[in-house]
Amino acid sequence: MIVNDLLPRLNDLQRQFGYLPLSELTSLAAETGVSMAEITSTATFYSGFRTQPGGKYLIRVCIGAACHVKGAEKVYDAFRRELAITGEDDTSADRLFTVSKAACLGCCMLAVAVQIENHIFGWVEPATVADVIRDFLHAKAEELAAAQEGRASADPTDASAEVCVCRCSSCRAAGAEKVWQSLHREAGRYGLPVHLREVSCTGKSYRAPEVTIHSAG
Ligand code: FES
Ligand code: FES
Repeated sequence: MIVNDLLPRLNDLQRQFGYLPLSELTSLAAETGVSMAEITSTATFYSGFRTQPGGKYLIRVCIGAACHVKGAEKVYDAFRRELAITGEDDTSADRLFTVSKAACLGCCMLAVAVQIENHIFGWVEPATVADVIRDFLHAKAEELAAAQEGRASADPTDASAEVCVCRCSSCRAAGAEKVWQSLHREAGRYGLPVHLREVSCTGKSYRAPEVTIHSAG
């Protein structure tokens, strides 16, 4: 087996486990006859592979051109400092957050932009990283609460109205996630016959977060 054949196998393991467990690499070596030395040197050569498990949540600080100009490196350093991550580590001691750099997130007008899971935060500065982490954890708690309190009508044919929420980058940065979770929670709480639908950018991000309501019939 040559390196080009090895990479897809390593990619599969990375996708499955989120990193490359040593036990899996050992099995791969036994199965393919490729030496462990060659497998580990390939795994460590490509920065996309992890040899240690990452945190529960991945913080991606955009270092694309627009964000770089606005101080993305300082924001990246501030996240590491806030989470007490030092040296070669990229993950907080409680394994809650991994901090990484990312290419353009596609919302340059929000520079410096930061993504944590499906949440986008805009205009992040070193002084606001603690707020970003706090807001993200708060949003996760809200999502959990919304899931526990029930969902709006799952069947569109039962609904008397359709509520469309844009969850693209600009709308996310303007609070679309909170709107989406609140709509789910309130519709579930009052048993409203509405169908909630996620839509992509409607081109009206100047009034983000964008929500439109269509009555049925
Ligand atoms: S350069 Fe950061 S979002 Fe585009
Ligand atoms: S990102 Fe929501 S309308 Fe464009």
